Amino acid sequence: MNAIARGWDEAADGYLDYFVPRFAPWVAAAVDALPAALPDGPILVPCCGPFPELDLLGARFPGREIVGVDLSEGMVSRARERARRWPSARVVQGDATDLAAWSGCAAVVSVFGLQQMPDPEQAARSWASVLRPSGWLSIVYWPEQTEEDGPFARVRAVLGGKTSDRTWETRLLTNTPTTIERDETITFPMTHPSAEEFIDAYTTSGPMRARALTEGEAFVERIRTHFLRDTPQGEWRHHPQARHLLARRELSTGAE
Ligand SMILES: C[S@@+](CC[C@H](N)C(=O)[O-])C[C@H]1O[C@@H](n2cnc3c(N)ncnc32)[C@H](O)[C@@H]1O
Repeated sequence: MNAIARGWDEAADGYLDYFVPRFAPWVAAAVDALPAALPDGPILVPCCGPFPELDLLGARFPGREIVGVDLSEGMVSRARERARRWPSARVVQGDATDLAAWSGCAAVVSVFGLQQMPDPEQAARSWASVLRPSGWLSIVYWPEQTEEDGPFARVRAVLGGKTSDRTWETRLLTNTPTTIERDETITFPMTHPSAEEFIDAYTTSGPMRARALTEGEAFVERIRTHFLRDTPQGEWRHHPQARHLLARRELSTGAE
C-alpha cells in the first residue's frame, strides 16, 4: 500500500495538470447523475485525488458536507487546497477500501479509483453500505477494455494484455442493499499532443508511477520504448470508454 501512496504522491502535480482536464467530462457525468433531492447526510468521495469532483458537487449541493478520502498525502494536500474554497468540504487521508467508519451518507461518488482497489468488489460493497436509505452511489471506473485502438489499448498491450483478474466487474454491487438504476458505458473524446507526451504523462503522473518505484526506472524506460514503436505522429485523439454505475440504496434495509 505504501508504494501505491508514494507513487500517487509523486504523480500528484502531473496528474492535476495532465489528466484532470482530460478526465473532466467523466467527473461531470458522475456528479450530474445524482438527483437534485438527496437525503440528509454527507457526500463521500473515495479516491478523490486532487478532488475535481468537489467544484461540481459544491455548486450542485450548496452547504452540503462533502468529504474527500484519499490514501496519498500529496493528493490530500492538493485536495485540501481546493477545499479551502468550500467551507462545508474537508479531506481525510485514509484507505478507501473499507469505509466502515462512515454511515448515514447521502451519496458516495467516486471517479477512476475503484479499479485500483485491491478488492474492488469488496470496496464497492463497503461504499454501498455507508449509504442512508434512499442514498445514491455513483461510480465511474476504467473497465478491463477501455478501447479497441488508441493509447490506452496500446499501453495495455505493451504491459502484456490482461494483467489481473477482472471477474469482479461482473459481480459489482451484487448482494448489496442497492438497486442499480444505470449501468452504462460513457465515452468522450480525449486528445494528447503526441504519443511521447502521452506516455510520459502516463508513466510519471498516473498509477504507473507506483510500478516505477517497485520495478525500477529501467522497466518504465522499456515500456516507453516499446510503446513508441509505430505510434501516430502528432496529435493523438481517441475515445476511451468508462463504466458508470448508478445505484440507490433501498428503503427498507433494516440497517439504520
Ligand atoms: C486516478 S486518481 C482519481 C482522482 C479523482 N477522483 C479524479 O477523478 O481525478 C486515483 C486516486 O485514488 C487514490 N487511491 C488509490 N488507492 C487508494 C486507496 N486504497 N484508498 C484511497 N485512495 C486511493 C490515489 O491516491 C489517487 O489519488
